[in-house]
Amino acid sequence: MKKIYLYGNWKMNMNCEETRGFYKDFGGQVAGSSGLLGAMGEALEVAVFPPFTSLAAAEEASKNLDKRTAPFLGAQNVYFEPKGAFTGEVSIPMLKNLGCTHIIVGHSERRTIFGESDDLIARKVKACLDEAIVPVFCYGETLAEREGNKTFDVVSRQLRAALSGRTSEEAKKIVYAYEPVWAIGTGKSATSDEAQEVCAYSKKLIRDLAGSAELPVVVLYGGSVKPDNAKELLSMEAIDGALVGGASLKADSFLRIYRAYAGID
Ligand code: 13P
Repeated sequence: MKKIYLYGNWKMNMNCEETRGFYKDFGGQVAGSSGLLGAMGEALEVAVFPPFTSLAAAEEASKNLDKRTAPFLGAQNVYFEPKGAFTGEVSIPMLKNLGCTHIIVGHSERRTIFGESDDLIARKVKACLDEAIVPVFCYGETLAEREGNKTFDVVSRQLRAALSGRTSEEAKKIVYAYEPVWAIGTGKSATSDEAQEVCAYSKKLIRDLAGSAELPVVVLYGGSVKPDNAKELLSMEAIDGALVGGASLKADSFLRIYRAYAGID
């Protein structure tokens, strides 16, 4: 079985107390399942992305977990400057100082609600790579764009912007997350064929842009991933894992996504 990346984007949920509760449950579930314990690391890579205010609690709580089973810690957003007069923003060195190894960049909620442009997102991707932190680069089309047969144009534009000026070495360090906007938080996931089609297209484009047909590329699917659709989606050849919103807020439903895929208790 291929390695699965299971990433949980908590969005604007989970205070410090809830975060500690999640880690306690998470540790208990992994310790109680030989299948999960065996998969951690080699076959399963887990990361969680709490809001900024819960990162320190998450980092602290992860110290109570067996090192092998602690999820990677990531943030949901960042500004590209290292410090200075940028009220309300947080920098990459600050996040690294809290134990973050990953940062979500360009989530559709940042693009649509907060007006982030392809250009700004590309600067964030570059800043993450310069600071040796993994950017989890999100992209995907809206419903109107899909219905207007613009999906591949939009995905291509977003990927080209993010990869402009990046080397192949840099391109392979990015985790890509295809998240069709119409599938996010709606309960209506893309079908496995729809998700496969765009993820396969993305991999080919990324490799073409990087000038390397063999480049290892990790592409996740996100948008209403739940335990009951996980097996079908994660079994698709071009999909390496899931970026999960709602179902990642409880350790049980989050880990059941992998259990469902791998067929373990
Ligand atoms: P949902 O799983 O709640 O649809 O959210 C997906 C998402 O936006 C993850 O980044």
